[in-house]
Amino acid sequence: MVYTVTLNPALDYVMRCDYVGSEDINRAKSAEILLGGKGINVSVVLSRLGIPTKAIALAAGFTGHELERLVQAEGIETEFVYLEHGTTRINVKLFAQEQFDVNAPGPEVTDRDIEALFAVLDKLEEGDVLVLAGAVPGSCPEDIYERILKRLDGRGIKFVVDTTGEGLLKVLPYKPFLIKPNHHEISELFHDDVKSTDVEKIEKYARKLQEMGAVNVLVSRGSKGATLVDETGAVNSEGIAKGNAINNVGCGDSMVAGFVAGYETKHDYRYALKLGSAAGGASAFNDGLAPGEQIWEVYHNCFED
Ligand SMILES: Nc1ncnc2c1ncn2[C@@H]1O[C@H](COP(=O)(O)OP(=O)(O)OP(=O)(O)O)[C@@H](O)[C@H]1O
Ligand SMILES: [Mg+2]
Repeated sequence: MVYTVTLNPALDYVMRCDYVGSEDINRAKSAEILLGGKGINVSVVLSRLGIPTKAIALAAGFTGHELERLVQAEGIETEFVYLEHGTTRINVKLFAQEQFDVNAPGPEVTDRDIEALFAVLDKLEEGDVLVLAGAVPGSCPEDIYERILKRLDGRGIKFVVDTTGEGLLKVLPYKPFLIKPNHHEISELFHDDVKSTDVEKIEKYARKLQEMGAVNVLVSRGSKGATLVDETGAVNSEGIAKGNAINNVGCGDSMVAGFVAGYETKHDYRYALKLGSAAGGASAFNDGLAPGEQIWEVYHNCFED
């Protein structure tokens, strides 16, 4: 089973208006509520690719229950940990003459909540995959990812960590199976200006991250593709799928899901990179996360050998 953890999930309230100003009441032409959160995104794309997944999240209040209902409606198993206080946040995405995004702070997380999360994670078994995705919110202990890996270390669980900065560096000694920084995150980690086309530098820093403990390093390079340095030391790059890109939110999460789906089905890193690239690309061509059929279509048209 592939488990995902989302520490700070959200409902997204998406409204579309012709124009937004302060002169009068603004009226939206449409409004919809969508699920949000990076781990949850990974579960959605895994499930659309036919991989069984369970979404674990720290949720709270009525919005937390609605989020859990939406995730289940995608056919995904859930194990939400309900916090002692607060409500799961609602982030507002307003499309008008410009795009306005307002993200709310998450609810407070207590030590008891963290213990409840650990109790859920303790049930994972050998062979399971655990995906930790997203920045650690200010409401959680900043070393939480490290504490999770330390607690589950040595149990034959494959860890996938998609986060940045210190949070990423601190998990490396626990030998995560996969990390997926983008080139901006690589720049930040190594205090260097790394461009999306600078594959030599990316390879050098990916190898450094392997020396620090990562087993496989997948560096996504936005509209320039992705480079994988795998555990055998082989370097493979893929370009991007051709299409009309209208979105860059969730492309990285889709890539993580596609990679994990590919690896779990064929145990082949090149195939995993290709399916990850197809999933990232398909989500770039969509308003939100791509449907499964479209990911396969992009895979067959652009990445199949
Ligand atoms: N414009 C695009 N056209 C085609 N494919 C794209 C495009 N943008 C991204 N992708 C695909 O998605 C992958 C991941 O994108 P990106 O590097 O932007 O991830 P990210 O920065 O981690 O995104 P996020 O964290 O917001 O989900 C890329 O490596 C590429 O394969
Ligand atoms: Mg990312």
